[in-house]
Amino acid sequence: MNTPSSTLHPQVHGIFDPVTWTVTYVVHQGPGTPCAIIDSVLDYDPKSGRTRTVFAQQVVDYVQKNQLRVEWILETHAHADHLTAAPYLKSKLGGKTAIGHAITSVQKVFKTIFNLEQSFQQDGSQFDHLFKDGETFQIGELTGRVMAVPGHTPACVAYQVGDAVFVGDTLFMPDVGTARCDFPGGDAKTLYASTRKILSLPPQTRLFMCHDYPPTDRPIAFETTVAEQRAKNIHVHDGVTEAQFVDMRTRRDATLEMPVLMLPAVQINIRAGEMPPKESNGTAYVKIPINAL
Ligand SMILES: [Fe+2]
Repeated sequence: MNTPSSTLHPQVHGIFDPVTWTVTYVVHQGPGTPCAIIDSVLDYDPKSGRTRTVFAQQVVDYVQKNQLRVEWILETHAHADHLTAAPYLKSKLGGKTAIGHAITSVQKVFKTIFNLEQSFQQDGSQFDHLFKDGETFQIGELTGRVMAVPGHTPACVAYQVGDAVFVGDTLFMPDVGTARCDFPGGDAKTLYASTRKILSLPPQTRLFMCHDYPPTDRPIAFETTVAEQRAKNIHVHDGVTEAQFVDMRTRRDATLEMPVLMLPAVQINIRAGEMPPKESNGTAYVKIPINAL
């Protein structure tokens, strides 16, 4: 295994989902090469409980049009704002699903909160692979490296591939700031340390956001650099202390509502995107805990 050379400049294709404000990425080295898919989205209508694969099909179409070979279907964390389309993509394109090793602690917390079935495994075995901090992996000749970046959730990871880093929900675009830290296992002090870890990479490193929530006066954007974040990020630009960040983050998080898809998303994403077991009538259900969150 090689360590990731930051001189490598892989191609990164982002597809934006305007319903959940999420970006799915395909990283590769050109037509006919191996690729990884990062943070996919399954369409979910909370009013009817119906899922669709219209957005995920855009990813399938891009991969097939460019004759890419899917090696990995990666998650930066168990998302609370959208459902992953990993099972659909795997069925269409192949590849191994993976997430950070600490997903096991997230599974334990939510197994209790949702009182999930006895047979629900808390060992991450729903995923094909669990990454440890610093672990490397191959996308053909590209070497990826896993960076544990907890804080938004305890299991958050970023993926570094050449000079590109997929930061998950640690950082947003500079004018939006950082992700909330008030979900179970989240911690503002820990997120501050994770942002400094990313921002200690070389200044020209390309950073790819998992979401964009743009102010009304600019179009959607999801690529920036370490240098730009250090100069301009409204929450963690150079000079902001840990204490200042924790104070800001804690005050702000107290004002935020739960994401619309939090309850179904978490229950399905901790199963690597599989639905809960069907009940005796052949239907799968998600639960709504009353006054527990
Ligand atoms: Fe998130």
